[in-house]
Amino acid sequence: MAILKIARMGHPILRSPAEPVADPRHPEIQRLVDDMIETMIDANGAGLAAPQVHVPLRLVVFQAPDERNEGGGIGEDERFSPSAALTVLMNPVIESIGDKLSSGFEGCLSVPGLRGLVTRPDHVRYRGMGRDGEPIERLARGFHARVVQHECDHLDGILYVQRMSDMSQLLFESEIKHWVRPSEELL
Ligand code: NI
Repeated sequence: MAILKIARMGHPILRSPAEPVADPRHPEIQRLVDDMIETMIDANGAGLAAPQVHVPLRLVVFQAPDERNEGGGIGEDERFSPSAALTVLMNPVIESIGDKLSSGFEGCLSVPGLRGLVTRPDHVRYRGMGRDGEPIERLARGFHARVVQHECDHLDGILYVQRMSDMSQLLFESEIKHWVRPSEELL
């Protein structure tokens, strides 16, 4: 296990589309997953995508605890299971469900010190493979949906700031936690 260096905004790997993972169970992929989880936890992040650690593969890890949904309205039947708390997802595909959008402040380990208000679909379905190569398919709302979309954007070379519609809502996190809402973890 190792803590990896995190690429920051400006590094070209953060603007480049990533390649599919060919073999999820390959020992190098397993080691990368372990290192990404360790790096995410060390950096107090809610998620991390492989390009953020200079690896151009379609692989993300994230933590989406059950209580972290935005704005309520999540149905009991759609509360994700505790097993969703730490997810490893390879070659993900996301589709939005319905027209509802939600806005929330996002941060990113590749854009340290800042938060920005981003509007995204509130309800999504995502599919991909876990670290064992088995298929994953889940519904997500609120914070869970936001984390997944943010992380998967990294695989297409997109940072959250590119999703912002109002740049007046790009703030230093030291200000946002005083003036807007309690600080959230970085994605
Ligand atoms: Ni990020």
